Amino acid sequence: MYHSKISGLGSYVPDRIVTNDELSKLMDTSDEWIQERTGIKERRWVTPGSDDTTATMGVKAAKIAIERAKIDKDDIDFIIFATLSPDYYFPGPGVQVQKALNIKTVGALDVRNQCSGFVYALSVADQFIKTGMYKNILVIGSELHSRGLDKTTRGRGVSVIFGDGAGAVVLSREENLDKGILSTHLHSQGEHAEELSLIAPGMGKRWVSDILEENDPNDESYFPYMNGQFVFKNAVVRFSEVIMEGLKANNLNKEDINLLIPHQANLRISQFVQHKFGLTDDQVFNNIMKYGNTTAASVPLALTEAWESGKVNDGDLVVLAAFGSGFTWASAIIRW
Ligand code: ACO
Repeated sequence: MYHSKISGLGSYVPDRIVTNDELSKLMDTSDEWIQERTGIKERRWVTPGSDDTTATMGVKAAKIAIERAKIDKDDIDFIIFATLSPDYYFPGPGVQVQKALNIKTVGALDVRNQCSGFVYALSVADQFIKTGMYKNILVIGSELHSRGLDKTTRGRGVSVIFGDGAGAVVLSREENLDKGILSTHLHSQGEHAEELSLIAPGMGKRWVSDILEENDPNDESYFPYMNGQFVFKNAVVRFSEVIMEGLKANNLNKEDINLLIPHQANLRISQFVQHKFGLTDDQVFNNIMKYGNTTAASVPLALTEAWESGKVNDGDLVVLAAFGSGFTWASAIIRW
């Protein structure tokens, strides 16, 4: 039995900064509304015509993580890629990363758990490493939202929130059982699947041929739908529950937390959780102001930035937590 530790981290965001004022030229919204309700000041959206995709952004983040882990790409035993915005309907981006990095024929797995995707992926990787099956696993969360958003007033409740970007980690075998990932906790509640969803181009309701035949320009099923207030109310409860569950499983208290990295869904959600756990501003890392909600990329993007700015140190108790579409929610308790 082993533990797994994060041995390298990397991130990538497109250069193009899209401010709230820019969005207010596309739809009926304002910098004031967006900042007050979400905390977001700007987000990154890929430049039209650029070759940034979910897979290529994931590759860029992965290269940095592999370099920082000080391993060779051929030391990677398995690839796990979390996203809700894959380049192709199939195959998933895991194999695209494998091709781009010219990694031998190791397994590549795609995880579909939206905002909780990265923490789910980390948990899967942790199980493989704990059992001794693999030594180094590349775990990526990457998201390209901007090409799929409704950028008219009709879509403003969703489109102002989401941004593009990627984060990646290398998870490696750790023989010291006091260190690394202490536990992960995963939950979902399928009864709320449609409360935050993108129905097309799924095969469940209509065939692609029907959609093409209807050719309806007002068809909203191509855009993400979110029952914002309902999601918000569930998020604050589930974030708190799953963090507490992780602490209890390890006989730890909220006072033991050095750094909480919550999925960047809404600054108000992070602040609610911060107050509930009595944490200071320094103990909670937020970068939603700069990037918006990058779903599966948000936790590794925030973790990488926190680490780069010296906020993650040897021996620290780092808590990752996420909530999103599914509903799904998850936490990871890490002794750095
Ligand atoms: N600009 C201006 N007005 C807007 C905008 C906008 N961008 N969007 C909505 N409004 C309007 C609405 O039309 C509504 O107007 P009305 O009162 O005249 O009907 C009013 O603002 C209030 O809308 P609400 O939806 O009630 O606003 P709320 O305060 O709930 O904020 C938000 C919306 C930011 C989406 C919030 O509900 C939220 O953050 N929800 C949780 C998001 C989340 O956690 N998602 C999970 C992860 S995402 C994933 O898994 C894919």
